[in-house]
Amino acid sequence: MGFLRSQLLETRKLPYPSTPYAGQTIVITGSNTGLGKEAARHYARLGASRLILAVRNLEKGQAARKDIETTAAKGTVIDVWELDMAKYASVQAFAARVNVELSRVDIFHANAGVVCPKYSVTEGNETSVTINYVSTFLLAALVLPKLKATAAEFGTRPTLAITNSGAHEHTKFPHMSAAATTIKNGGASDGAILTAVNDQNFAGGAHWKEQYPVSKLLGVFAVRSIAKEHPADRYPVTVNMVSPGLCHSELSREAEGVQKVAFSIMKAAVARTTEEGSRTLVDAGVQGAKSHGQYLADCRIAQPSAVVLDNPGVQDRLWLELKAKLEAIQPGVTENF
Ligand SMILES: NC(=O)c1ccc[n+]([C@@H]2O[C@H](COP(=O)([O-])OP(=O)(O)OC[C@H]3O[C@@H](n4cnc5c(N)ncnc54)[C@H](OP(=O)(O)O)[C@@H]3O)[C@@H](O)[C@H]2O)c1
Repeated sequence: MGFLRSQLLETRKLPYPSTPYAGQTIVITGSNTGLGKEAARHYARLGASRLILAVRNLEKGQAARKDIETTAAKGTVIDVWELDMAKYASVQAFAARVNVELSRVDIFHANAGVVCPKYSVTEGNETSVTINYVSTFLLAALVLPKLKATAAEFGTRPTLAITNSGAHEHTKFPHMSAAATTIKNGGASDGAILTAVNDQNFAGGAHWKEQYPVSKLLGVFAVRSIAKEHPADRYPVTVNMVSPGLCHSELSREAEGVQKVAFSIMKAAVARTTEEGSRTLVDAGVQGAKSHGQYLADCRIAQPSAVVLDNPGVQDRLWLELKAKLEAIQPGVTENF
């Protein structure tokens, strides 16, 4: 009922973005299409000084830039930068560019995401775990110094908004049992939960269909952990997460068979337009300090799933496991949080 109310009633109330962004620099990953592109279009219309479209395919990115420019305010400069979240080296190179080439970053949307109906491994994790979770938080850690520097230099409070999903509620996360004993004993990270998450055959493969929800649930835990370690009143940047609701986009492009049909029927019946969904992203950028560590839905602070609220030990444990992974990619990077 909550889902239908949100899709059918709350969609009409989503505020049409109207904040002026003159002087601001905004970065959006996954912005050659879908929600990221429509969010970029809002920022361009509202006069952001500089917009970085972070995309894995430069040709698609340039096409998006040209399209957005047709409705952009005069003076908005749009650049297309390469970022492939499936490669840690690309994430590192992109973040280095952000830190060196941009004089400020006011809003950073870590929006790129995938649904992977088939099992594959990328950078040592199941692919959606790498793209939606590990790379997303590697990127967050690597760009936070620029957002903090922006806060110090301009006396502002930048926002890092991570696009999450209501789908995170669609798993009871049985994988957490993999670490039950060590959690109970306050044990150190041995990577057991993420090992289970990356194993297609965990529990005989019974939960593979929940992989997208799991990859987003991991992100909910991580944003809450950042805010737990760095509360809003002692942190110059707002880090929040946003559920855009079910929206038309290319997200289900790889779905096949029954899953594809189910997606199509659901989208035809209740999905938000891509533009409507993009309003929730733009809204996350202006929610400010009260939204630090929070999950936003329908442009309001909302509660994440009971799995998150009921398992603070799992959250702490996953934070250790994620930090261990990030440190293995780039030693010292978690100090940036
Ligand atoms: N649409 C929904 O109903 C819905 C609901 C909840 C949450 N979300 C979330 O919203 C975000 C945006 O998705 P969308 O619905 O707009 O889907 P979309 O139209 O498929 O857009 C996803 C974007 O992410 C990019 N991307 C995928 N893999 C990437 C990689 N390895 N490196 C860099 N960029 C990559 C895509 O680039 P390419 O075009 O090159 O693949 C595309 O620009 C995702 O995080 C998704 O999980 C969507």
